[in-house]
This record gives sequence, C-alpha cells and structure tokens, in this order.
Amino acid sequence: AKKKLLAPSILSADFTNLSQQIRYVELANADIIHCDIMDGHFVPNFTFGPMVVEAVNRITNLPLDVHLMIKNPDNLIDKFIDAGADFITVHQEEVVHLHRTIEYIKSKGAKAGVALNPSTPVDTLQEVLEYLDMVLIMSVNPGFGGQKFIERSIDKIAALDRIRNEKNYDFLIEVDGGIYNGNIERISKAGCNVFVAGSTIFCSDNITAAAVELKNLINK
Ligand code: DX5
Ligand code: ZN
Repeated sequence: AKKKLLAPSILSADFTNLSQQIRYVELANADIIHCDIMDGHFVPNFTFGPMVVEAVNRITNLPLDVHLMIKNPDNLIDKFIDAGADFITVHQEEVVHLHRTIEYIKSKGAKAGVALNPSTPVDTLQEVLEYLDMVLIMSVNPGFGGQKFIERSIDKIAALDRIRNEKNYDFLIEVDGGIYNGNIERISKAGCNVFVAGSTIFCSDNITAAAVELKNLINK
C-alpha cells in the first residue's frame, strides 16, 4: 500500500511561538511540515520567505514541503533548497518550461512537485508525470487558510491515481485546502497520499489531538 502522510501547514500556526506549535504536531507524529510561500502577486496574500523556512528547518527534523505560490518561482528555487526544503512544489499555471524546472529541482537534490489550481485539469501534467515526485491537487483556490473544500478535487485525485496505476508511476498525490475530519477519509480512499491541513490543526484548542485524529482517519 502507498504511504499516507500528514503535512500540517504552518500558515495557520501562531507565529509568536512557532517552535512550540511545531512541537505539538511532532507529538502527533506528523510526517511533513508544509510551508506556504505567497508573494502577493501569484496569489492575493503574502506570507514568508527562505529566512523563515531556514528557521523552521533548525527547529525540526521533519521534512519540509515548500509550496511556492509565487511569480517566477525559478528565481528562488536555490534559496529555498539552501534553506532546507526537501520538497519544492511549483504551480503548473506559472511555470512555462515545466520539464526544465522539474529537472532543475531534482538536480539540486530536492524532490519535485507540481501543483494544480482547482480550475486546471489533471491532463496538463500528462507529459511530465513520469518525472515527478509529487502532484499537489489544490482543493481550494490558493491564497488563504480556512476555505471550503471543492468537491471536484476528489475526482481529480481519483483520476491521477488511476493514471499512476496504469502507467506504474510512483509520484505521491497531495491534497491542500479545506481538509478536516469530515472529508479526509473519503479523500484518502480516492488515492491521496499526503494531506495538508492548516486551520483544522492549528486553529484547534488541542493541536496535537487534532493532528492525531486526522492521522488516524487517513490510515483507516
Ligand atoms: C492555501 C494553502 C494551504 C492552506 C490550507 O493557499 O496552500 O496550504 O494552509 O489551509 P486550510 O487547511 O485551512 O484550508
Ligand atoms: Zn499549501
């Protein structure tokens, strides 16, 4: 069976106490820390850059999954890898020479992911799937935490899983946005491997318990 991994997104964490917040999800055996990078251009919001990723890398041994919601991500790939990114995910909608970018990320020793906005079909990745370590299905329009899950995303995950089985590819399927205890089991059954959750975990009164609950549901 394919791996099932929980990737808490620190977008909704309390940044006045980031190391404690990360400790809480480590206690829940979270698998990956998801870092949402927004530049105010590709998406209408702004978060943080390589300096914060580097700080996060110093306070955890968990792999860092860096989701680049920025214009011209090619210019910053080196900086994020130097900061400690294990996965670099770029958006299909922003990168013109996607094959080149994927190969570049891998040549630098990181794992390469490509994200699809809710309006972007899975077919757009047909020519690069065999080179990818991860495909990120955005289940909300990127930019903000706490949005409602778009149901169509489940069909996209199932379609990707089907292609993966047919062709024997081994990329991970990741989902991001609107994940909570009421939908995560269905998403897992559709073939998803990596589950990003921000507000469900970090806006909870008990961060560790919220993450444990999601971890249990993905493995059901
Ligand atoms: C949205 C980000 C997500 C965000 C998800 O643009 O890519 O990673 O943190 O937040 P929730 O889990 O609250 O929908
Ligand atoms: Zn994200």
